[in-house]
Order: sequence, then structure tokens, then C-alpha cells
Amino acid sequence: MHENKIILVVDDDQDLANLVKNYLRAESYLVICVYDVSTAKEVLSAHKISMVISDLKMPDGNGIELIRWVKENYKIPTLLMTAFSAILETRNAAQLGITTFLSKPFTQEELLEKINPLINTHPQVEDLHSHEEQQSIEHLFREIRIEEFLAHSEVIYPVYLKLSKSKFVKVAKPGQKFTQETIHKYQEKGVHFLHAKHDEYKKYEEHTEETIALAGKIKNAKGIAPDKKDKFLVHTAKLIVEKIFLNDIDKESLYNAKKVFDLTLNIISNNTKTFDLLNYINSKGESFYAHQLGVSIYSVLLAKKLRWDSEKTLEALSIGGIFHDIGKKDIPLETLTKKCTELSKKERFALDSHPLHGAELVNNLQQFPAQVLQIILQHHERCDGSGYPFGLRRDQICPLARLVAVVDEFCKLAIQSTSKPPISPKEALNELEIKKSEFDDEILRALRKVIYS
Ligand SMILES: [Fe+2]
Ligand SMILES: [Fe+2]
Repeated sequence: MHENKIILVVDDDQDLANLVKNYLRAESYLVICVYDVSTAKEVLSAHKISMVISDLKMPDGNGIELIRWVKENYKIPTLLMTAFSAILETRNAAQLGITTFLSKPFTQEELLEKINPLINTHPQVEDLHSHEEQQSIEHLFREIRIEEFLAHSEVIYPVYLKLSKSKFVKVAKPGQKFTQETIHKYQEKGVHFLHAKHDEYKKYEEHTEETIALAGKIKNAKGIAPDKKDKFLVHTAKLIVEKIFLNDIDKESLYNAKKVFDLTLNIISNNTKTFDLLNYINSKGESFYAHQLGVSIYSVLLAKKLRWDSEKTLEALSIGGIFHDIGKKDIPLETLTKKCTELSKKERFALDSHPLHGAELVNNLQQFPAQVLQIILQHHERCDGSGYPFGLRRDQICPLARLVAVVDEFCKLAIQSTSKPPISPKEALNELEIKKSEFDDEILRALRKVIYS
């Protein structure tokens, strides 16, 4: 079907060039393989070539330069093959007019998927370039912070690197591994976000929620009376609607964060030890309990805004949010509701120790991941070093604890407590911005977006 189309394959790796040749021949393309840039130019001037497929690095030149030369002299489509590790070097290539990219390793199917439509639109290639330059496909993708990939050993959905508004190149397939080194390399080159297609990511989100729900079932422990549990859950749900849902926060984001929270609550309330702990928080009074629920839900909401939405991250924030003040468990309610100036030395000490005490308590349970412990231990640390218990500075504080620190302060101000009437979310944000050296800049900005979106 493609008998009269000649494709030129340029790659110094002869095995790969031959493999590509076999893939293409199966579709009846004629294929010429060359192994350096200068021979490629000679072949182009001697034959009517329909398309050029080139590797990025060649002994006598660079694939990007070759493709630029092809674009200047011949109106034919071009495909650049790049190894995963070299993909960053192709970021400028989109501007140089490369028609498409393929990241190595690839299958025959993936190669043909790229090639066939280009060959068939051969006469309009020039139009294709200009059309692509104009037409943004950004709306098909969502940004994912690169730090998100540190938590994963394997990629669960296809990941893309944005080269321009109209060009996104796949850099990892499901099952592929991102190493710490690769992530650092991206960061060094100024890449802070990778991308996923909305539809592909949606499947992953559904998977995340199913996994959390499943985890809840697996951890199901006998011994909690169903009516006791149900009563508790109804009480919690009522409290959330009455105290946590604040004006100015968009209801869809809240609803989405609450979905994650419900799954977490399921995990916690299906385990005798963790359920008892949750009940203990509840016994400290509605305001105290509402604060913990608020920190959990708003931490998830803010993390989603920041695109920190891997399964592990959301689970850690949701659980860490609920238990962040668990170290106050044994502090009498009257101490908790006192003004700072009225506290005795002993009471002050007990309060200042709650992050350490809480981390110890949760560590003894051995039910939760390390990030939950870090949230509990570091939620009173401040970016400028003014926090406690260790006076850590920004980079020494776990990012999730930096997020909970912002949410904790916000909830203290915006959710009703026994000692103070609440202020509006906008006023609460202003209060936090006055002390902005204490908090992570980016997280504060995300909170602003949540309130003013
Ligand atoms: Fe606290
Ligand atoms: Fe708190």
C-alpha cells in the first residue's frame, strides 16, 4: 500500500536502524538506512524521499540540525527518535520544525501510528507545520509537579513532556521507572511539571480511589460494633457539613477532597486501634475534632490544587491531617482552650511537646507511612526557622508538613473553635500573608487560588 514511498532512516546504531527498517517494510514502505548525517544529505539529494526518521545523536552531527536542514530544503515530514534520557535536548526541536517525536524504546505499532498519518498528508506537510504551530493542544493535558514522581517507583499513566503549546512528547509509559537522577536532571533544566492526558489521568484517579477503598476493606478488623461505628460516622459527616464547609471555597473542590477523606475515614474506622484514637480526638469536644477534620480535608484540597495528587501523597495528608494534633490527646481540655498568656510553664511545655509526643504515639501504632509521622512531627516548624520542636528551616521540613502548617493556621482562624469566633477565609488568608516568611510561598499562593478562584 505504501510501495512508492521511500523513508530515510538515519541512525548510527545499526541494529536499531535495521529494526526500524523491518517495522516499516512490514507496511510495504521502501526504506534506506544510513548511519551518519553526511550520507543522509547525499541520499536526500539523489532520491525522492517521503520522510526522514533520525536519531538525535550522530557521530558527525546532530539529528536536530539534520532535520532543520531537511525542513529548509525539502517539504517532507520528519521524525526524531530520542532516548528517554536525552528527551530534554529536544525541547528546542519543536521550534525547529520537527514534525513529530518518538521516545525509545518503541514498538512497531507506536512507530506506525506516528508515521502513517504523516505520510498520507505529505502534500500538506507545510500546512501541517503552520497549523500545529497555531493550534494549542494544552487543554488535553494536565500538569503534574515533578516532585510527585519521586514517590513512585513505577509510572502508572503515560507521562508527557511539554515542548510547546502544540507539542507534547511521551517520556514514560505505564510501568516505566523514573529514577531520582532523571527527576533531578529535569529540575536542573528548569522542568518543574510533566503532563498527563486528562482522560488517561482520570483512569488513574479512579484507580487511586478504588485502591484506598480497597485498603480500607483489607485492613478491616473485627471488634468495632457496627452501630458504634455508624453513629460515629454520621456525627462526623454532620460536623463536616456544619463546620468545615466554608463560604468562598468552591464546592466542587471541597466535594472532591471530601471523597478522599471519606475513604481515609473508612480505613481508620475499620481498625480498632486507629478508630480508638479517632474517638479520643472526638471526645475532646466538637471544636477540637472539627479542627482535625478541617486540616485533613483542606490539606487534600490544597494538595490537589498544587497537583500533588499521587495516591501516597493524598493518603498521607488525609491521615496526617486528622492526627496532626494527636499529641494533645492527654492535655486537659481546659488547657487547650486557655489563651497563651494564661498558660503555666508546665502547660506550655505539654503543648510545645505535642508534635513529638504525637509522632511517638502514631509510630507505636505502626499503621501509617513515614510521611504521616513527618507531618505530625513537623507541622509547627516554620520556613524561617522560628517554629518548634527543632527550629528547622524551609528545606529541612518535609513538603507535606509545610503544607499542613499552612492549613493548620488557616483552619485555626477560619473554623469555629471554643476560644475564638471564626473569621472569613479571605481574612484568614490575609493573616497568613502578614506572616509569610514563616510559610512556603508556593503553598500560600495555592491557598490564595483556592479562596479566590
Ligand atoms: Fe499542632
Ligand atoms: Fe492543629
